[in-house]
Formats: sequence, C-alpha cells, structure tokens
Amino acid sequence: MSGVLYGVGLGPGDPELVTIKAARLVREAPVVAWFAKKGRRGHARAIADGFIAFAAEQVPLYYPVTTEIPFADAAYEQALARFYEESADALAKRLDGGADVALLCEGDPMFYGSFMHLYERLRPRYRVEVCAGVSGMSGCFAASGQTMTWGDDVLTVLPGTLSEQDLATRLATTDAAVVMKLGANLPKVERALRTAGLFERAVYIERGTMPGERILPLARLAGASAPYFSMILVPGNGRRP
Ligand SMILES: C[S@@+](CC[C@H](N)C(=O)[O-])C[C@H]1O[C@@H](n2cnc3c(N)ncnc32)[C@H](O)[C@@H]1O
Repeated sequence: MSGVLYGVGLGPGDPELVTIKAARLVREAPVVAWFAKKGRRGHARAIADGFIAFAAEQVPLYYPVTTEIPFADAAYEQALARFYEESADALAKRLDGGADVALLCEGDPMFYGSFMHLYERLRPRYRVEVCAGVSGMSGCFAASGQTMTWGDDVLTVLPGTLSEQDLATRLATTDAAVVMKLGANLPKVERALRTAGLFERAVYIERGTMPGERILPLARLAGASAPYFSMILVPGNGRRP
C-alpha cells in the first residue's frame, strides 16, 4: 500500500490560525516536507514547528532559484521544472515505501501554492488529499481591520508581476483589490494604483499575523521594494444598508 500525500495549508503565519485538522495531519505524519529558499528555514516549516512529531523524517525541498534569474527567462522555467520533478521523485520514494507525507504549505495550498506543482505530478499515481488553510490575504484582511467587500463588490487578486498596463487596466475596473508578490515590483504597482485612482485608499501589509507585522497606508510607505511576505489591499466601498 502506498502512502497518502497531504497538502497541508498552515495559514498566514500565526500558529493559532492553523486549523485543528492541519495540526492533526502534521502531528500524525511520519514524513514532513516543505519548500524553502536555500539557506532559509522556510515559512511553512516555522509555522508548523510546534506540531511536528519528534520521530518524523523531515524533508526540506530547496528552490534552486528564486529571484536570481528573471522568471520570464527560459532558464528559470527549466530549473524549476527540473526541481519540481526531483521533488516529486523524493516524495514518491517515501510514498512507495508506504509512508504518508505531509507537505507543509503557507496559507492555502491551492492559492498560488508551490504544492500545486507536486499535486499535478503525483495525483495520477497516489492518493492526494488537500487540507484548506487560511490564506495570507484573509490573515491580512483581519490583521489590518479592512472591510474588504460589501454587497456586490468585485474583488480582484493581482500578482505584482503583471505589467504596469495590465495592473492599471484591471485595477480600474474593480471595486476592491489584493496585490501580492510585491518585491521589486512595488514602484510599478504604485504607479498602476495611481493611474487607476486607488493609491490613496491602498493599505500596505508586511508579514501579516507574524512577528514583525507592519501595516500602514501605502501613501506613507517609502521604499523602492518590499519583502516577499507583503501585499497591498484596496478595500471595497460598495452597497451597504
Ligand atoms: C506564492 S504566494 C503564496 C500564497 C499562499 N498560498 C496563500 O494562501 O496566501 C506568496 C505571496 O503571498 C502573499 N502573502 C502570503 N502570506 C502573507 C502574509 N502573512 N503577509 C503578507 N503577505 C503574504 C505575499 O504577497 C507573497 O508574495
């Protein structure tokens, strides 16, 4: 009997936002794996710290590249494709041996999650179960106290990696927005928000629900880039009694 792969959503950072189910799956897993940047512990691994069994085998999966090569470069795509194949093989070896594997995921596994690359590769051969997690943006809504969507407001979620033109066009036609993956894209995102007339309403959140959390109006943020765990919220202002 092969083991089961569990994609376990661990929420935005605060370990108290880990669901009861996620905590149980991690505690019971004989093998625990997670993605991380080389030389880093990994955010999902840090959230799960209090839940991993002492005897569990721990399998870090280190990205070969993160921001060193532009993601539009073919070399970036090739390196990541190879990495996901090798990571899938590493987990398949444990699953073939009959061990269940918990793959730790920051936020929700099915929302811009690296887990999805292994899910697609392994689900034809193994039983795979996904445990929903509180997404980073949900954590940030609550942490910043922003009432995001009212009545028939439309919420648009945008990666900051889009072109300035794309960002501005989509922002101009939405009521509320979440902009993720800021990093060096911050100045471009700020320009697009200004073009769409949303800059003054935007709120910046760094490390939402985690130690070092920082929340301020975007207009007061000075800087040409933002850390990986940051996003911008534009709250909706729609129909309400
Ligand atoms: C690859 S996506 C992963 C999303 C994750 N699966 C989720 O459900 O939120 C990473 C991006 O999510 C956003 N993010 C996730 N958690 C966050 C947090 N706690 N605070 C601020 N931004 C966060 C950042 O914009 C970051 O660049």
